Amino acid sequence: MSKIVADKVTIRYADRSGVGEVIAVQDVSFSVAEGEFVCLVGPSGCGKTSLLRAIAGLQPISSGALQVQRSDDKRPATAMVFQGAAVFPWMTVLENVSYGLRTRGLPYAQQIAIAHEWIARVKLERFAEAYPYQLSGGMQQRVGLARAFAYNAEILLMDEPFGALDAQTRLILQDTLLELWQASGNTIIFVTHSIDEALTLADRLLIMSARPGRILSDERVQLPRPREAVALRSDPHYGELFGKVWSLLRAQVA
Ligand SMILES: Nc1ncnc2c1ncn2[C@@H]1O[C@H](COP(=O)(O)OP(=O)(O)OP(=O)(O)O)[C@@H](O)[C@H]1O
Ligand SMILES: [Mg+2]
Repeated sequence: MSKIVADKVTIRYADRSGVGEVIAVQDVSFSVAEGEFVCLVGPSGCGKTSLLRAIAGLQPISSGALQVQRSDDKRPATAMVFQGAAVFPWMTVLENVSYGLRTRGLPYAQQIAIAHEWIARVKLERFAEAYPYQLSGGMQQRVGLARAFAYNAEILLMDEPFGALDAQTRLILQDTLLELWQASGNTIIFVTHSIDEALTLADRLLIMSARPGRILSDERVQLPRPREAVALRSDPHYGELFGKVWSLLRAQVA
């Protein structure tokens, strides 16, 4: 079943000077199946964030059609993990993770029980009462992951959630994210600039051109699961796909 169907989606913005307009995304068509993990890769400014915001219903599209298929009325349709901002600094870990459940109006005891469960899955039990400033960047991203999964939306839209992390922390969080996704069955669209990260995580890669963003290629990543970030890299299919994706992207970035 298709969870998201985009048909010739175009997103335009009024130019900041008010004279012309910026076409961020042009005639983008794709579909995402339920439970699929799709990575969106493309040069800076090609409209990745705009597309995620449109799927989340935060950004109107200028033309085309964008459909999000609901499977369960009791769950929120989408949750967005915004570029650069994982957590609220004025809330404890527990308050951060239960935040979305609070906005959904769940009974307090249930909010706390669910939040503790996800805090345990990202291995931060000892830090439930800590504030973000008391945590490392990697730990803060774990809080962000726990918060996103605890909210229990059908579709997770993740905008470069690991972009600010060092390479080693990033590898560990990729493994954590894969574990959480495999346990939850969510549909995920994940934006990244890293080909390695995309190949490690995704069932499929959507590769976008420079602005105005179009889909250049839709690649299936046929690497066995469960995956482990480092072991994957010795698989010949990995090297082959990496080369293909890089040659597509290089032409766009240059
Ligand atoms: N609110 C806005 N008003 C006007 N132009 C905008 C607005 N938001 C984005 N744009 C423009 O639309 C284009 C696409 O922006 P978007 O943030 O979607 O790109 P992106 O692919 O997420 O880039 P990055 O990889 O740098 O995060 C850019 O040229 C940007 O300047
Ligand atoms: Mg962006």
